[in-house]
This record gives sequence, structure tokens and C-alpha cells, in this order.
Amino acid sequence: MNINVPRGTEDLLPEDTQKWHVIEERLKQLAELYNYQEIRTPIFERTELFQRGVGDTTDIVQKEMYTFSDRGDRSLTLRPEGTASVARAYVQHKLHGSEHQPNKLYYLGPMFRYERPQQGRTRQFTQFGIEAIGSDDPAVDAEVLAFAMECYQTLGLKSLKLVINSLGDKESREAHRQALIDHFKPHEEELCTDCQNRLEQNPLRLLDCKVDQDHPTMQNAPSILDYLNDYSLNYFEEVKKHLDQMNIPFVVDETLVRGLDYYTHTAFEIMSEAEGFGSITTLSGGGRYNGLIQDLGGPEKSGIGFALSIERLLMALDAEGVTLDTQQGIDCYVITMGEEAKYTASKLVYELRKAGIKTDQDYLDKKMKAQFKAADRYKANYAVIIGEEEVQSGVVNIKSLDDGNQKSVSLSDIVQEIKSTI
Ligand code: HAM
Repeated sequence: MNINVPRGTEDLLPEDTQKWHVIEERLKQLAELYNYQEIRTPIFERTELFQRGVGDTTDIVQKEMYTFSDRGDRSLTLRPEGTASVARAYVQHKLHGSEHQPNKLYYLGPMFRYERPQQGRTRQFTQFGIEAIGSDDPAVDAEVLAFAMECYQTLGLKSLKLVINSLGDKESREAHRQALIDHFKPHEEELCTDCQNRLEQNPLRLLDCKVDQDHPTMQNAPSILDYLNDYSLNYFEEVKKHLDQMNIPFVVDETLVRGLDYYTHTAFEIMSEAEGFGSITTLSGGGRYNGLIQDLGGPEKSGIGFALSIERLLMALDAEGVTLDTQQGIDCYVITMGEEAKYTASKLVYELRKAGIKTDQDYLDKKMKAQFKAADRYKANYAVIIGEEEVQSGVVNIKSLDDGNQKSVSLSDIVQEIKSTI
């Protein structure tokens, strides 16, 4: 029996990885442009981090984590997202004391969630995200939202929608929480078991329940926006004002609650409006998390961030028919005839590469015509032809594959000759 990839994972073959490289490079450049610096954290963490960080009553923690015991009987979990890990690293390394404030960090790497696989939803996916920790200026919220939109726009995407909401501060959330309990309590029996269990503990989670989303009580559930206190309302207004100033269009959706527990104030998602994108239209999401650093034992520092998955970004590129410039040929292909020529070729190829010239040669004893074909397929700029005669004379033919021009060059001058043209 053949062994294939585990369900919900995929191989990226060279034609895919070329696209990934273009995207990853562009996103990293964008992060640097906004003055964010890369942070890399482990792929697995202590399970407790996500229970405390992401929240015990979330779907991610209750149903989707890849949790295992290591040989020392410690409970570890493959990270389902990046924010909790970044917050942990922030606390552990006391980044609040570093010279650059706020701390502006970005990350890129695989995340793992045991979800039902479908288009745009896999069990291993790659997130690119940023976190700005240490400021509660609404201008930082606007920066993160602008950055998130720019990630798509810089790659040529247009059919995008920015949806924002506010989840308020602790006091506002508490008032909303009570209103939700009062609203749903009379209908408790009609709701799914998850919702029943979460009603007292974390009623906000009911609003993103996939099972009960069409239950009539969901339609007229109390809106958080009606429970925002003055500070929260003002904060939300400020964020919107910054976005207006920056000419970034957005819509407010008071039902947007996000699936992680750490959010306060600004919450947002970017949706694809491209036709044929598929049923999951969310491209990315994020928001502010003013209590998370403290919950993880750190100082009272607030943060905001967002993450996108490259898989969904690729789907959006497909849906909008955007092609990426992945054309990457080599500089030179060395064509050989005869046994002796092979030694000369090995030496030459080695020298060309050492000089930074992208080079390859034939290893399959192909006929000359087939070797030229290979050079074409690799989009080589030059072919260098070495036969017995060339080995004897030390002079070889170099052919430009762009215009067909040929000239004879001494073997010792080849590196210089090609270098001067690339
Ligand atoms: P999230 O909404 O859970 O937020 O995930 C962010 C993005 O990751 C989603 O919008 C989607 O693009 C992608 N994603 C999530 N699950 C999958 C999946 N199974 N397959 C493919 N893509 C997926 C977070 O993870 C937060 N940490 C974002 C954040 C950063 N908030 C503040 N800072």
C-alpha cells in the first residue's frame, strides 16, 4: 500500500514553492517596510499556553489542538496560531524592556488545527502575521489594519472587504456578557451541547457557533456595540477616524466576534469578494488583545496583530486570476560530447557556480539536440558546448540562447565572459 500525506496536509512541489517564495519574499519586505522584525518561536509549546492564551472554551482549544505527551510526560501542543507564542516570548524575554517600543514583530510558519478539511481549511497551514505590543494608541490599530490590506494589494488583489468591530474593554465585555446570558438563558434547551456548556462560562462564544448559527435567538442577540462604555466607544471612533484619514474603506459588522478569547476593542477580518472564491470567504483576521500579556504573567502591556494564511491568499490569487512572476531561468547550461569533455565540464560548472553564475549540465548522456532542449527548458541564457576538440584546444563555443549568436572563447575566460553579461 502506498503511503500518502496525512489528511488535511499537502506537499508543495517545485512549481508551487516558486509561488510561495514570491509571496513570502513580498510579505517579508512589506513587514520590513512597516518596521516589523521577524520572531521565530517553537512549533510546539506547553499545552497550558494555548489553554490560557487562546481560551479554554474556544473551539481551537476544545476540539482542534494536536496535543501529545512527550517521553518526559509533559503535555505539549503543536501551535494552532502564533499570537500566544509571541506573547509568551515577549514575557519570557522581557521584551517590554527592549529599546524599540512598541515591539513590532512578524512571523511566518506552519500552524496546526484538527479541523474538517475542505477548500481553504487544512490541518497544517502557514500563517504570516504581525504583532505590535506595548501601545494602546488607536493609530497602531489603523497601522495593523492598513498593513493587513496591503499584504493582498501588493500582490495585485482587488476584491477585498475589510470588516471591523469592537469588542470593548473588560467593563464593556462584562456588561455584554450578562446581556447575552439573559438573552439566551430562556432558550438554553434548544441550543447545542457546546452552547449550553459555554452559556455561563463564555456566552460570546455562542455567537460564532457553527451549529446554532441559524437559531432565531442569534438574529436578535444583544450587540456588543450597545454595551461599549465611553472609553471603548471613543477608542473605536478613533480607529475609524484614522482609517478614514488613510482612505481605507471598511464596513462595521457588529456580529464579528472572532474565534479566540483574547480579543478586546478592535476586531477585524478581511474577506475576499472574488467570484468563485469558495464558501470560506475570510482571508485573514486579527485584533487587539489588551489583557493577554498580563494573563501570561507579564506586565500590563496591550497588543494588536493579525494573521493570514498563505493557502487562502493563493486561493484569492487564483479566484482573481492574478499570476505571480515566477519566471526564473538559469544563466548557463554546459553541453558535453564525449567522455573527456565531462571532466572539463565538471571543472567549468564548478567554477561558474563559484562565480555566482547559475549553471547546470547534462547528467543523462543525452544527445546534443536533447541537451539543447534541456537548456531551453531551464530558460538558460547561454549554452557552452564542449567536445573532444574543445578539450584539446582549450577554446569552447558559447551560444546565446536569446539571439542565437555564437562565439569562441578560451576556457579560462568563460567565467569573465558570462559574468560581464549577467
Ligand atoms: P484566526 O482567525 O484563527 O486568527 O486565523 C487567522 C487566519 O489563519 C485565518 O483568517 C485564515 O486565513 C488562517 N487559517 C486559520 N485556520 C486555517 C485553516 N485550518 N486552514 C487554512 N487557513 C487557516 C489567529 O490565528 C490569530 N492569532 C490572529 C491574530 C494575530 N490576532 C492577533 N494577532
